[in-house]
Amino acid sequence: MTSQASPSSSRRRFLKQTFAFSALATLGSAGVPAFAAPVHPDAADLLFIGDWGYDTDHTGQTAVAAGMAGYIRHNALHPQAFLLLGDNWYGDLTGGAHSARWQSQFEQMYPVDTFNCPAYAILGNHDYQIYPESKVDAELEYARTRPTRWTMPARWYRFDFPAHKPLITFLALDSNMPHPRGPQAAGRNFTLTDEQRTGQLAWLENELQKPRSTPFLAVLGHHPIYSDGPHGDHPVLIRDWDPLFRKHNVQLYLAGHDHDLQHLEFEGHPTSFFLSGGGGADLYDLKINPAQRGPYAQKVYGFSHLSVTREALTLRHLDANGRLLHAFSKSAKGAISILPA
Ligand SMILES: [Fe+2]
Ligand SMILES: [Zn+2]
Repeated sequence: MTSQASPSSSRRRFLKQTFAFSALATLGSAGVPAFAAPVHPDAADLLFIGDWGYDTDHTGQTAVAAGMAGYIRHNALHPQAFLLLGDNWYGDLTGGAHSARWQSQFEQMYPVDTFNCPAYAILGNHDYQIYPESKVDAELEYARTRPTRWTMPARWYRFDFPAHKPLITFLALDSNMPHPRGPQAAGRNFTLTDEQRTGQLAWLENELQKPRSTPFLAVLGHHPIYSDGPHGDHPVLIRDWDPLFRKHNVQLYLAGHDHDLQHLEFEGHPTSFFLSGGGGADLYDLKINPAQRGPYAQKVYGFSHLSVTREALTLRHLDANGRLLHAFSKSAKGAISILPA
């Protein structure tokens, strides 16, 4: 067989394209993903969201979940992981690991026929609120006791992706830094203890010092280190984590917390800061114009897609209809290309 396409395979391809085009034309702007992701045959894909388990109004969460499902179907993606970047549960989680919200807002919201993969979760500030019992304990218990995709072996942990022939190492952290006035100072808003903060920092440094077994390394934390959103830059994370990221060439930091989508780059900094906080909770106005500090920030509901090969990371922000808002790729050597949106 030669690599040249035979007339019949060209015809098949033509028919497939025609079908894809007419399907889009028929469905028009009725909430159907308009963006076809170029699927690299060797790429491993994962999707992620932050700030999703809203308590009062599920409209945003439901729209983003439908957008993700449409995007996966439309692009024939097979995501091998789903990342949940904290603020998993806003408000009341009566019953803890037995709350009905686990079914309605996780298991059924992101159904297994679409997201047939582990869901790696980290803790946000809302997860640390006591309503009426510890939601942190509930999330750890749900992971431990249920045969489910929900994966949270500890407050901070490591996983390699994909499981077979991994291409990227993830260090999933707990960014809930101790309150300056002590753990009880903010009422229901608990945090890590100072002992946990220093223990995690030592663990992070130890992990970063290990010889790399994958071409890429990313850190996950709910709170952004730098943000154009209302929460702004985080002085404790700038003090504790940022120097380690620079020293150990961390290529990517994924966060949520500000309810928007962002991608920030800094001259001479090895880390790309990619924020996905549009998973369902009420949106926030930006504080810094992305024209000043970017390349991208937008107040919008949406989700994000990471595609990894041995050569490059490709990151995309999509809106709740699965339409591409912003994309870039980063080579293993750190070269960044902004891709057309
Ligand atoms: Fe949030
Ligand atoms: Zn938050």
